[in-house]
Amino acid sequence: MSKVPEAHIQPLLQLRGLRRYFRVKGGTLFRPNMVKAVDGIDLSIERGMTVALVGESGSGKSTLGRVALGLQPVTAGKVIYDGQDLTSLSASERRRLRQKMQIVFQDPFGSLNPRLPIGDQIEEGLHAHGNRDRQDRRKRVAKMMDLVGLPAEYASRYAHEFSGGQRQRIGIARALALEPEFVVLDEPVSALDVSIQSQVLNLLADLREKQGLTYMFISHNLDVVGYFADRVAVMYLGKVVETGPVDQVFTKPQHPYTIALLSAVPKIEAHDTADRLILEGEIPSPINPPSGCRFRTRCWLREQLGNPERCATEEPLLAASPRALDVAVACHFPLEDGAASTTKVGRTAAAASAKSRAGASATARTEA
Ligand SMILES: Nc1ncnc2c1ncn2[C@@H]1O[C@H](COP(=O)(O)OP(=O)(O)OP(=O)(O)O)[C@@H](O)[C@H]1O
Ligand code: SF4
Ligand SMILES: [Mg+2]
Repeated sequence: MSKVPEAHIQPLLQLRGLRRYFRVKGGTLFRPNMVKAVDGIDLSIERGMTVALVGESGSGKSTLGRVALGLQPVTAGKVIYDGQDLTSLSASERRRLRQKMQIVFQDPFGSLNPRLPIGDQIEEGLHAHGNRDRQDRRKRVAKMMDLVGLPAEYASRYAHEFSGGQRQRIGIARALALEPEFVVLDEPVSALDVSIQSQVLNLLADLREKQGLTYMFISHNLDVVGYFADRVAVMYLGKVVETGPVDQVFTKPQHPYTIALLSAVPKIEAHDTADRLILEGEIPSPINPPSGCRFRTRCWLREQLGNPERCATEEPLLAASPRALDVAVACHFPLEDGAASTTKVGRTAAAASAKSRAGASATARTEA
């Protein structure tokens, strides 16, 4: 039997036990204050897949994207890209690999140089990565502009001469000029008018097909994630709390946080405003996250279960769900009927069912 090449069986990107802490003011010499922006994440992205990262502001999505690309150092853990451990490569090896990994930022204007014609900006990366043939670079710029739907003669114009949607196309052309395989899209359409968001998303979907790209897609917009991504990782305070295929996680969410996020999406027709689950309070400080389960201070399910001690003392690990193939959840009392739980009545029923299961497992433990 012929041997299957490694590249076909291993994910393009693997994050293992990834941590990224930032030292901030305060604390003591021996216990400095550290923002735990990413705090122990395992995630794999298969070639050709789009994996979305969702979660409230401050949950660590952008930091995870940047660390995955090697734009920021890791505090602990590994980033394995195409079988190579990025964290153990020399600077020149990392540079070579970085060519295959690019990022498109949320703010197309802020990320473009106002004083340089946009053609030169697209060309810059090619030069930086060793292309010394000016004519070839120019040809590539024209090809990239064509690919993102901009006339090649616009190459001599400056960023302020373009609309928001056009600037984002330029940002995409710049990222793709180096023919990457993996692109982090950090809120790529959220700064754009709603009317042009779908144009840019369609362009990104089209490029994914044509160029065989793999995306990490960061977004607050769950509707867009549902349409654009294959898989989703729901993040809370530097951790992944639920992950799996988008259609599974969005139709049968099991983690109370995922349910709260989905409940806030207005589209589900069964909902009136009373059905919405409002997450109370702010996301806690990532310097001192709550003990046990990080979500416990805002968890509606824990409250309905009578505040079980376990949520405060034992950290729930991200574990494969027995109910859904390929889904993993980090909760001691994952819900069975998450879709129903996005309504008020459904939540009460789901909590009652979780309570009886929690009771059953406590009895089993006592008897053991
Ligand atoms: N350079 C830094 N120094 C200190 N703290 C930082 C730094 N960068 C990010 N953080 C903190 O890390 C946490 C995660 O930030 P991050 O930007 O990754 O979140 P996010 O999920 O992308 O949020 P948003 O949706 O608002 O973009 C936040 O508490 C943020 O304040
Ligand atoms: S472990 Fe407890 S606090 Fe955490 S999400 Fe589950 S029920 Fe809520
Ligand atoms: Mg961000």
